[in-house]
Amino acid sequence: MSPPLLEVAGLAKHFPVKRGAFGFVSGHVRAVDGVDFHLDAGETLAIVGESGCGKSTVGRLVLRLLEPTAGSVRFEGEDLLALPETEMRARRQRLQVIFQDPYASLNPRMTVGAMLGEPLMLHRLANTETERRARIGELLELVGLRPEHARRYPHEFSGGQRQRLAIARALAVEPRLIVADEAVSALDVSIQAQVINLMQSLQKRFGLAYIFISHDLAVVKHIADRIAVMYLGKIVETATTEDLFRSPRHPYTRALLAAVPQPDPTVVRERALLEGDLPSAMNPPSGCLFHTRCPFVRDACRRDVPVLADDGPSSDPSSHATACPYWPEFPPAAALAQSMGQEQDRIRLARLQAAFVSQTEAS
Ligand SMILES: Nc1ncnc2c1ncn2[C@@H]1O[C@H](COP(=O)(O)OP(=O)(O)OP(=O)(O)O)[C@@H](O)[C@H]1O
Ligand code: SF4
Ligand SMILES: [Mg+2]
Repeated sequence: MSPPLLEVAGLAKHFPVKRGAFGFVSGHVRAVDGVDFHLDAGETLAIVGESGCGKSTVGRLVLRLLEPTAGSVRFEGEDLLALPETEMRARRQRLQVIFQDPYASLNPRMTVGAMLGEPLMLHRLANTETERRARIGELLELVGLRPEHARRYPHEFSGGQRQRLAIARALAVEPRLIVADEAVSALDVSIQAQVINLMQSLQKRFGLAYIFISHDLAVVKHIADRIAVMYLGKIVETATTEDLFRSPRHPYTRALLAAVPQPDPTVVRERALLEGDLPSAMNPPSGCLFHTRCPFVRDACRRDVPVLADDGPSSDPSSHATACPYWPEFPPAAALAQSMGQEQDRIRLARLQAAFVSQTEAS
């Protein structure tokens, strides 16, 4: 069996926190604290969790935009962290990123043609002016824009079009993996649906893998093959998207997905408890990190650190892993399957799905 496209093991990033005029290190923020996952070619792994749980830090570590405190990142079988910076620069061609705000990452003084032409020249993907122009036109068409858009500047485009430009720029270097960090979060629902449909069709066409970072479960449900749920720098549950929505196990995942008002009292309890504050990543709770908010907490949870245990071989793409040894004792969460949280979330999901359907019919 060939190795996964990406294999992340024991990944950690502890940011030093400096205090006072002399900048003494007074502690560390455990932004990412021992994360393992893998990703195959052509697959989408979503990373979800509350703000500050470490999603973006994982993305930046995978791209080696940040140096980790510990752990390994193997891409196409090669340990990225062992590569000298010069060689890493060449590998970056295969690992691209799209951020939430494309305007901030697009140079306002560069035409679209110049912006797309730059990586083509840098990586010698177009050798002559004619080749370059042809490839720029092709890239623009791939993302649903027109070759003549090459003469325009970023401010002449709408938000959704700018995100298409960011995708075109990522595609220019023929990557195998794209980290999309809240890539559609700032867009209107109908535009979100268009950009996600585009990302999915490009994935099929080029065998791209995505790490799709999002706080929006409605979007994630549509795009991801598998989901990793993070809490305070650790993964607390991973499963296929279908399994996770049908039978969430970890109390935190259940709380994230939960909460359509219904007679099941455990669902109401889960929601109420998630309203508690997220503990500080500088001073995380002992034992299970979720014990301060968990409706099923028991004494041992304050002491024992749960491991992310698989229900099958972790290499099996359908395995379901949960960092709570007590989940089989909890009442079934089947009632959450169709729910998407509170009323406003359900309306948003319905709108998003309607937008997907209408675009699929139109295309
Ligand atoms: N450069 C940094 N220096 C110090 N702390 C940092 C740095 N970058 C991130 N952090 C901290 O690390 C933790 C994780 O941050 P991160 O941005 O990865 O979270 P996130 O899950 O992406 O959140 P959001 O959903 O708000 O984007 C947070 O507590 C954050 O304050
Ligand atoms: S280990 Fe304990 S505190 Fe943690 S999620 Fe499971 S029951 Fe809750
Ligand atoms: Mg983030």
